[in-house]
Amino acid sequence: MNEILRIRGGEKLEGEVLVSGSKNSVLPILAASLVVKGRFFLRNVPNITDVYFMISLLEKLGIEVSWLPNNTLFLRNNGLKSNDIRYSYANEVRSSVLLLAGVLNKFGSASIMLPGGDKIGPRPINYHLAFFKKLGFEYKIHEGYVEVHKVKSEPKKLRLRFPFPSVGATQQSIIYSSSSNITVNLENCAVEPEIIDLIHFLKGCGADIEVLNRTIKIRGKELLANDYVFDLPGDRIEFLTFTLLGALIGRKVTVSGVQRWRVNNVLKKLQKLGVQIKSVDDQSIEIKETRKLNNFRIVASPYPGFPTDLQPMMAVLGSKVESRGVLKDNVFPTRFAYLEELKKFGINYKLLKNGCMILRSTTLIPAQVRALDIRTGAALVLAGLTAKGESEILDSYHLRRGYDSIDIKIRNLGGSIYFIDTALDEIKIF
Ligand code: EPU
Repeated sequence: MNEILRIRGGEKLEGEVLVSGSKNSVLPILAASLVVKGRFFLRNVPNITDVYFMISLLEKLGIEVSWLPNNTLFLRNNGLKSNDIRYSYANEVRSSVLLLAGVLNKFGSASIMLPGGDKIGPRPINYHLAFFKKLGFEYKIHEGYVEVHKVKSEPKKLRLRFPFPSVGATQQSIIYSSSSNITVNLENCAVEPEIIDLIHFLKGCGADIEVLNRTIKIRGKELLANDYVFDLPGDRIEFLTFTLLGALIGRKVTVSGVQRWRVNNVLKKLQKLGVQIKSVDDQSIEIKETRKLNNFRIVASPYPGFPTDLQPMMAVLGSKVESRGVLKDNVFPTRFAYLEELKKFGINYKLLKNGCMILRSTTLIPAQVRALDIRTGAALVLAGLTAKGESEILDSYHLRRGYDSIDIKIRNLGGSIYFIDTALDEIKIF
């Protein structure tokens, strides 16, 4: 199906939105199901295509998965049946690389599609492979896939310092180590809330993991689940996407479903810039339109820094800046391809080295644009809803990859936004 997202922008939004479960928490937890023997339930799972892709891969590897009512997934691991993860859709979802941990743990060898670089910049897996190398694995990179196998016995203890606090490499190492026979000290780890969620999940299955600042200590052991139930926390990036939407065109928008500690770093920054945010309770805030944003300089960096995943949406709010705002990204320094699309809405910018300067743009105009990835898609939705008139977003499937029912949630706030099947759209009745 060839789908586009059609938006009629210019309406002020009002009402309440409850965000869904966290995409970047559920994906590594699904990958971790390979190292947990037994049966467990995940609740509050978002209905997004990245989750469907991951489930398909788990099924190929021998995990039984079924959807139950109310966004609940049931998983049963009675042993893995394959070490081959060379499926084309493994390439679609970056988190599929995290399946390496479980498969290598069980078989001592694995073949997996190499995740490609995408529009947010190169996405190598050298830190993941360096971890496995320290454990006695060798790897060989082939055309499009990588083969990893054990050549030496494991050390009893391992200490590893990541060159950069990579979310994926930290998750990979935690998943592998937690069910191994060794003690592992990981330094300079990523400590995003999604990493803490993975650790909570694994601890619930018996894992021995301690976190102290950016150091994570793991004593490996067998992990078991006996009808264990894990509730996924709300998605902080979705929460913040709606926060920025409220700041752009909210008459009064209440966003709920995420604990405050997960988003405090960003909310405080936004308040300093003049965004009107009122706390309702630990999981909810109320936002109203911001007329003029103070000039800003934001550098996206690992948590607790400003999230790189919010950077494209911040550029849209940036159009309301008093005169200029600077955006830089330390995580994906070239994550600025989205600006060309935002420009079609009349958002003015200048490119800087590893960053950009957003200039005040008083009125946004409707446009036909293309979603390049999930977060560009979200930024385009924000711009489309702000610009008075009809906008269209091509390649809107990216939004379905990461945002559960974004169209319905926005319509409930009074916005006009519909996924349209273009084949049907072309049928003329008269
Ligand atoms: N990096 C390496 N080598 C590696 C791993 C990472 O050089 O082996 C570099 C990357 O190229 C990047 C930086 O380290 O410059 C950080 O990458 P990281 O590993 O932290 O990112 P990731 O695990 O691939 C996750 C999220 C991304 C989010 C980043 C940063 C998931 C599924 N993805 O990616 O989310 O931007 O962390 O917070 O958790 C999104 O949700 O739209 C998204 C892209």
